[in-house]
Amino acid sequence: MPATIVVGAEWGDEGKGRAVDWLAADAEIVARYAGGDNAGHTVRVGGTTFKLHLIPSGILHPGVTCILGTGTVVNPLILLHEMDYLHERGIEVTPARLMIDARAHVITPAHLALDGASEAALGVEAIGTTKRGIGPAYASKMSRTGIRIHAMRDPEQFGDLLEKAVAEGSRALQALYNQPAIDAKALIGQYVDASRRLAPYIGDGVTFIQDALDAGKHVLCEGAQGTLLDIDHGMYPFVTSSHPTSGGALIGLGFGPREVDRVVGVAKAFSTRVGSGPFPTELDGPLGDRLRGTGENPWDEFGTTTGRPRRCGWLDAVVLRYATRLNGLTELILNKLDVLGGFETLKIAVAYDLDGKRTTALPYDLSALGRAVPVYEVLPGWTENISSVRNLEDLPEEARRYVARIQEIMGIPIIAIGVGPARDQVILP
Ligand code: IMP
Repeated sequence: MPATIVVGAEWGDEGKGRAVDWLAADAEIVARYAGGDNAGHTVRVGGTTFKLHLIPSGILHPGVTCILGTGTVVNPLILLHEMDYLHERGIEVTPARLMIDARAHVITPAHLALDGASEAALGVEAIGTTKRGIGPAYASKMSRTGIRIHAMRDPEQFGDLLEKAVAEGSRALQALYNQPAIDAKALIGQYVDASRRLAPYIGDGVTFIQDALDAGKHVLCEGAQGTLLDIDHGMYPFVTSSHPTSGGALIGLGFGPREVDRVVGVAKAFSTRVGSGPFPTELDGPLGDRLRGTGENPWDEFGTTTGRPRRCGWLDAVVLRYATRLNGLTELILNKLDVLGGFETLKIAVAYDLDGKRTTALPYDLSALGRAVPVYEVLPGWTENISSVRNLEDLPEEARRYVARIQEIMGIPIIAIGVGPARDQVILP
């Protein structure tokens, strides 16, 4: 069985973790291909809610080997913390279950300090990053001054490299942001200790995945973030610094496009966004508040990584069509349909009015997106609570119509509909 890529079709937080959890049942390998602990995947299994940032959600399936691919950036302390978190919940993360590709890059204490300082310096124009050091870590990688994971195999050399990186980071902090040098002695000690514990997990993820594909195994490529956060194809500069789109999976794991037979997009039944930047279908006020929830429930719209309330709005089909073509989506998983219960009418943006013209193309220019006025199609809502529905036929007619309309607009089948946070709260049409 070849590779399946799972990508977020919107601004992230679409519920990719649980989508991967459903799809991982018949996968041998689940591999993260981009990003780092800026991601937040919430999966509820039985009565336990798992919140993962770095380790692929596939870890919740005993037979699966997880990989942090070449394209990821790894904070070793966060990784260890997550391994301990899983251990406390009865899941042992052994080297047979998790491999960190030796080519992935290390997020150093300097990257963390620089992320915070650059956001503070931007003031009201801040990107709204997760402050996990993601942008500076990818900047080091691209400027060829980063530290790759394989350096952790030699703790002494790793300590030296970290000291150099921190000294360089301190110079940048002082020169660019007038901030004091980073005091990272204790942190560097923790990183070096972490390298001793993590050394058995470091391996050649690229060859491992290629061998698995040659042997006919099913590799599930777990995307993080979402299409509109892609560094090239998202709403620059309000993006992350990697490629969450399907092309990123090939580069970030190291195999060719012929291996891929499915690209599964994940979307929510409405739109959300964390961080700054234009968001045409955003709902301020009571409707947005209703979509967001109160935060008492882990399913509510508050960031898994930062706890920030997410901005909420109507479904944006201009974005979904863009994501379909950009990623070559073959199918869609639609999450959180249950949250739309009780709205008298529901709206889907099918085009934008921009400077006197109607368009279905997503503007590449931020200021144009800021001026875009959504053109809505209005559909009737439903009042029933659908969280215990498991068959498409048992959904209220209005809910089926809403799903059918999304499918029609995107031109691909919807293969799963999430109606609640638990693993089994899903309709498989
Ligand atoms: P960074 O990835 O921390 O540099 O943040 C850059 C932008 O991506 C900010 O708008 C973040 O809110 C957003 N972002 C990063 N990771 C996620 C995610 O997993 N879900 C949603 N937004 C994210």
